[in-house]
Amino acid sequence: MTHDLVNQPEITANGFTRQWWKEAVVYQIYPRSFMDSNGDGMGDLNGIAGKLDYIKDLGVEIIWLSPHFDSPNADNGYDIRDYEKVMAEFGTMADFDALLAGVKARGMRLIIDLVVNHTSDEHRWFTESRRSKDNPYRDYYTWRRPAADGGPPNDWTSFFSQRAWTLDDATGEYYLHLFARKQPDLNWENPKVRDEVWQLMRFWLDKGVDGFRMDVIPLISKDQSFPNMPGSYLDKPSYYYANGPRMHKYIQEMHTKVLSHYDVMTVGEAVGTTLEQTALLVDERRNELNMVFQFDIVQLDRDSQGHWHSWKLPELKSIFSQHAAALDRHCWSTVFITNHDTPRSVSRYGDDDPAWRVRSAKVLQTMLLTQRGTPFIYQGDELGMTNFAFERVSQFDDIAVRNAWEGQLRAGRNDEASFVANLNKTSRDHSRTPMQWTEGTAGGFTTGSPWLAGNPNAGQINAAAALADPDSVYYYVRALIALRRAHPALIYGDYADLAPDDLRLFVYTRTLGDETLLIALNFSRDVVDFAVPGGKGEVLMASAATPVQVGQILSLPGWSAHIIRL
Ligand code: NOJ
Repeated sequence: MTHDLVNQPEITANGFTRQWWKEAVVYQIYPRSFMDSNGDGMGDLNGIAGKLDYIKDLGVEIIWLSPHFDSPNADNGYDIRDYEKVMAEFGTMADFDALLAGVKARGMRLIIDLVVNHTSDEHRWFTESRRSKDNPYRDYYTWRRPAADGGPPNDWTSFFSQRAWTLDDATGEYYLHLFARKQPDLNWENPKVRDEVWQLMRFWLDKGVDGFRMDVIPLISKDQSFPNMPGSYLDKPSYYYANGPRMHKYIQEMHTKVLSHYDVMTVGEAVGTTLEQTALLVDERRNELNMVFQFDIVQLDRDSQGHWHSWKLPELKSIFSQHAAALDRHCWSTVFITNHDTPRSVSRYGDDDPAWRVRSAKVLQTMLLTQRGTPFIYQGDELGMTNFAFERVSQFDDIAVRNAWEGQLRAGRNDEASFVANLNKTSRDHSRTPMQWTEGTAGGFTTGSPWLAGNPNAGQINAAAALADPDSVYYYVRALIALRRAHPALIYGDYADLAPDDLRLFVYTRTLGDETLLIALNFSRDVVDFAVPGGKGEVLMASAATPVQVGQILSLPGWSAHIIRL
């Protein structure tokens, strides 16, 4: 017996309000790297439009499109020059409208990126703002006089390894940028700025988009006295910059003025946000955001300087338990293990050795799709795409890498091999290599020369091969999405970790009403035994051979996932 969602009550047995954005699975597209339709080496909107059936067939209901707006691409579109124009490299507004229509025609929805902590320095607001101190746009950004010694107004640093202030010669004042110099921060204290943001949101909502992923939204409000950073935050500056004094007020204003007038979904990128602060952002009674991306999982293997370190399975498990404990039935969350800012999940939490890659990718996708929260699949993870083996700094495109390397050189450190070795574990460019569609030239991504080199393993790992192989990760993900839809316990169910200290097994239950599903994931190459509570259960899904059960003991094959109804 399945519990088809169509016949479920509006409030679940454990008190969650049902919402389409809780029940759907999201697929993230990084347009630059998805599919090139015109041979210029860069992905584009028509390329995406031609692949909608591929996405739909996976069972996904929502697409999140990373920025598609006019941009000089200092940070690949996260530096917007004109919010109401499409990036020329990606196509035209007519192409966007056609893409949106194609998404809707297939019964899917589209959410877009809202990048409004900062603009490009080439946005008209900024080119005006920097012109003179009395320009009407001056207060659209944060300008401050130099400190007494002529240096920056305070000691803040940017996320891209620079000072957060740049002196502008025209007026002799510094402007604030928490990211690159070409990404000046908007001044949300100015009500005109907020009105501009509400207006651009309405522009896209009125076209029919179904919501927003909100870039670094906790950074929008800053302490206007701009103090130096307290020493206790020096190794975690994002926690100092985020959740400023008027952040909740601004988000609630956004809700009242814009969001409440549409049936949309919102997901904030919760940089610098603790779990306690997360609950305030997503509690449905507060009218702020539907859900946020928390970074604990994707920062599991990083120190405060961004250097890689090893990790153990109980650390990963404890993150899920903490989230389940911190977020009650009034809150909702997300689950993601790869995005355009991370390495590939299979190379990171799985085992990308060719003998184990597919099996471990299936384990990870099972985790992604059976935890509490709306799951976000990143393009290519449904194929088990892997990290790229970088050898030189010059192979990277990412501004974060280029700035960090310049900083190293300035500091007299030029050990390229160890710099690249760390990036091979941590770089954002791993997930930005072109999507692998076929075994052909450039993985079928482009007929031209790709903007970022493709992974040479496209000959083995590509969508055409996956679609021809019934045992592929793609078909496994499709079956998982269908199972999730048929079992509301996988969406709304209460969460319990049955073996938090086990170094190889991740075993948990999801319970809703009278249904309890056990998810048993073996995160190792070893066969591992596990005692099923109550001694029996029906295997609903097995990623490898169905495990041998003797009495109460299940022998779980290496890198395997099982979903068992107790
Ligand atoms: C977060 C985005 O995901 C990342 O790609 C970007 O560099 C920064 N925000 C700045 O917009």
